[in-house]
Amino acid sequence: NLGIINIPVYVHIVYPDANVISNNQVQSQINVLNADFRNPNTNLLPEGTTFANDATDAGFQFTLAGTFRHNDSKSSWGTNNSVKSAYPPITPETHLNIWVCNIGGGILGYAQFPGGNLATDGIVLGGNYFGITSGSYGLGRTATHEVGHYLNLRHIWGDGRCRQDDFVLDTPDSDGSNGGCPTFPSVSCKSADMTMNYMDYTYDQCMYMFTDGQRNRMRAIFASGGPRAAMVG
Ligand code: ARG
Ligand code: ZN
Ligand code: CA
Repeated sequence: NLGIINIPVYVHIVYPDANVISNNQVQSQINVLNADFRNPNTNLLPEGTTFANDATDAGFQFTLAGTFRHNDSKSSWGTNNSVKSAYPPITPETHLNIWVCNIGGGILGYAQFPGGNLATDGIVLGGNYFGITSGSYGLGRTATHEVGHYLNLRHIWGDGRCRQDDFVLDTPDSDGSNGGCPTFPSVSCKSADMTMNYMDYTYDQCMYMFTDGQRNRMRAIFASGGPRAAMVG
């Protein structure tokens, strides 16, 4: 039993004027991660779901280990890891590295699954979606979703049709992503989709849970021999 797993975080801010992202905004994102990975939010579930049985405290906490600002005139960085080659991760074996930059193309963020190249390990977020901002993606949950990927979670629809698994038993099958704030129940296979899961594509205000199965899948990578075991060494 690993208890609450602590993840120290380095934040790399890359903008023409890197001060556009304040320390308060950085801390607001750390606070959102700490809330989302500890609070099962069962009180928010719509009436009629059985998902309260699955919603869980995922058992992770995040601490800010350092913020690095880089003034860089490049206007958009894409999703090809170029921001990571320009500003390499710091001790990715023991720290989550988060790059904040303009990705472009309406992309909110992207992540690397565990077990990949350490030189590109971590997540990238657009500054408009980093921490508490405004709009439909203003509650800092793009980071929650991307950290989910970083901790080995797939999208709840498994990126395929009904029988394509996300390798988690207590997330129901779904045939695709859901967006916006769906009315419950939104049925795409045999039962209601878990549209309020952080690993769907709904708006920030309408996603608020991880399941027990997702908790187990995330925590398994920290077990001895697992791809992130060094973080709890
Ligand atoms: N599209 C992104 C991804 O697949 C992130 C989606 C985040 N959704 C949100 N409500 N913030 O990794
Ligand atoms: Zn995703
Ligand atoms: Ca599932």
